Amino acid sequence: MYFMARRSGPCGLVIFGVTGDLSRKKLLPAIYDLANRGLLDPDFALVGYGRRDWTSEEFAAEVRASVVEHARTPFEEKVFAGLDLRFVSGDFDDHHGFEALRTAVKDQENVAFYLSVPPRFFPAVVRQLKTHDLSSGDGWRRAVIEKPFGHDLATAQELNRVVHEVFAPEETFRIDHYLGKETVQNILAMRFANTMFEPLWNRTYIDQVQITMAEDGGIVGRAGYYDGIGAARDVLQNHLLQLLALIAMEEPTSLEASALAIEKLKVLRSVRTRPEDAVRGQYDGYLDEDGIPAGSTTDTYAAVRLEIANRRWAGVPFYLRTGKRLPRRVTEIAVSFHGPAYLPFAHGDTAGLGRNALIFRVQPDEGVTLRVGAKVPGTQGRIGDVDLDYDYSDAFSESSPEAYERLILDVLLGEPPLFPRQEEVEESWRILDPIEALWEHSGMPSPYQPGSWGPPEAERLLSREHRTWCLR
Ligand code: BG6
Repeated sequence: MYFMARRSGPCGLVIFGVTGDLSRKKLLPAIYDLANRGLLDPDFALVGYGRRDWTSEEFAAEVRASVVEHARTPFEEKVFAGLDLRFVSGDFDDHHGFEALRTAVKDQENVAFYLSVPPRFFPAVVRQLKTHDLSSGDGWRRAVIEKPFGHDLATAQELNRVVHEVFAPEETFRIDHYLGKETVQNILAMRFANTMFEPLWNRTYIDQVQITMAEDGGIVGRAGYYDGIGAARDVLQNHLLQLLALIAMEEPTSLEASALAIEKLKVLRSVRTRPEDAVRGQYDGYLDEDGIPAGSTTDTYAAVRLEIANRRWAGVPFYLRTGKRLPRRVTEIAVSFHGPAYLPFAHGDTAGLGRNALIFRVQPDEGVTLRVGAKVPGTQGRIGDVDLDYDYSDAFSESSPEAYERLILDVLLGEPPLFPRQEEVEESWRILDPIEALWEHSGMPSPYQPGSWGPPEAERLLSREHRTWCLR
């Protein structure tokens, strides 16, 4: 029953920027995977819009190549052949192109427009949609926008104004693909489907929270996008603050979009930070990457210490960090508890006992670890740490869908809970803007060696409070 209810109705999905990296690696394969899982209506049509002079057949060949390379589910000729793929050639200021687009979707009652293009093109695209009568019709019309949602608070507000000139807030879906990840949705399941965590989920029991999103790769061919944006704007402002919100928010009255937004927003509004509690770094060699201007001060690493000013969290530090060219690709959230008030063991027996911790392993080793103290076998009374954990690969027979599968399907179904609202985006900029303002006048970021865990200042951010990063 659930499965049936989650299938899209008849509709079209138009992708602007369909020849870009994101489309090729994530969006097109996700659409195929949805089709392969039987979650798209037989009348679903995918329309690519781009500058290339492709026919729909040439477009289909491109889609096939990206599906073969990147899809999660096996390639089935029959499923692929069943996809209705159309291509419209045009520029963003090209009236003929948008007229051709109108013709290409005129058999579709419902249409979603996915703007997988740099934000500077948003105004042109949404205005063209309006001018060519594409933004309204008998059925629904939706806009899907990819981050970055602005460069700071002011530009985010402007971007929003432009999009809402044409699309109503409830028809605008902002993609933060971290919210589409199974392991991220699991945060609320762990917190609110169990009895044993929530009573401890506060400053009385929790000592600190660390959120790490590390990547071993560099900027690989994305200089044009990345330079001038940097790690903090690229992922801390969105993915990491969304993770923080899910960890720290109060229990929502339901999992509906408005109920979730109320609680996430409350937390984001309570976040306090001082610009001097932030660290930025740049890996050695960044300036030699293709397309990076000499003397670029872009951060490829960012760490920040935040606090949440409410009764549940007052005084508990939240340390967030992200970076490129770190030792490995890993995203984890470690919630670390205070030590026991009293230990009735012989002095020395607890030397190997650390702190209890609940660790959400977001990726790549998807799962959850609960770290507890236990007796080390033997005639002595030593106590050490053990991990009680579950791996997705062992615990469930279904593999996790790619985040974009879930999010695209939700757009087609009109289900907004996994999409951040504009207010959340604005609050996140309110947190980051003072930090970026300080950095703008602070010269070069601290250098760090590729393959290290970032600049030494990030260690000091914690060591001055007698802590260390849990993940290393
Ligand atoms: C994107 C960033 O939002 O997330 C990229 O723009 C980053 O710079 C990517 O590499 C990481 O996503 P994931 O899902 O691989 O952690």
